[in-house]
Amino acid sequence: MRIELKIEHEIDSDQHDQITSLRNKSFPDAPRERSYFKQLPHFRLLAEDNGILAGHLGVDHRIIRVGGTILSIFGVIDLFVSDQHQGKGIATSLLAQITELAEQKGIDFLLLHAVDGRLYLKNGFRVISPYLKSLWLCDFENYGVGIERLDNIIYIKSTSDKAWPDGTVDIMGYLF
Ligand SMILES: CC(C)(COP(=O)(O)OP(=O)(O)OC[C@H]1O[C@@H](n2cnc3c(N)ncnc32)[C@H](O)[C@@H]1OP(=O)(O)O)[C@@H](O)C(=O)NCCC(=O)NCCS
Repeated sequence: MRIELKIEHEIDSDQHDQITSLRNKSFPDAPRERSYFKQLPHFRLLAEDNGILAGHLGVDHRIIRVGGTILSIFGVIDLFVSDQHQGKGIATSLLAQITELAEQKGIDFLLLHAVDGRLYLKNGFRVISPYLKSLWLCDFENYGVGIERLDNIIYIKSTSDKAWPDGTVDIMGYLF
């Protein structure tokens, strides 16, 4: 098993096809004929087993505002592992690798949204319930900016010495 960091524009069409296929199997309620749900990420970690995609984690590098504090975050998008490779610690390895990179590069927090947070709680994240301001975006059209309270679906992990500030989260774009 090998985990490779790929900048978005360096991902070739075969890899996009593999990501699309595995993404659609992993999220059958939200299939799309593309390798991303709303928008291209900035880079991805791809776990490969002899050239076959086994796991994926997309990353959006974003500046956000929480209350009056500006933070640099890695937003984690579309974490999935193929059925055959599940339960072997691949998602845990992907999260460990993105944590290490964020720590090395001066990123303040990892942030993601998830309904089932078991994996994240095991990997050093905690859940918050903020008011969150975001761009509502769906299938290549945006519908303006909205604020909503998100109860127990936003997970954060510090990758710096900063404490998470109080206040509304302005995610400064779509919610990954
Ligand atoms: C969730 C998922 C990425 C875990 O991948 P994995 O490589 O098997 O994970 P690991 O082996 O590193 O860790 C296993 C732990 O993940 C957690 N987990 C398992 N399925 C999960 C799920 N659907 N959602 C959240 N956490 C899950 C459990 O805590 C599990 O530990 P346990 O077996 O002791 O209970 C994989 O099951 C998957 O791709 N599911 C479909 C897509 C998905 O739900 N992605 C997460 C979106 S938030």
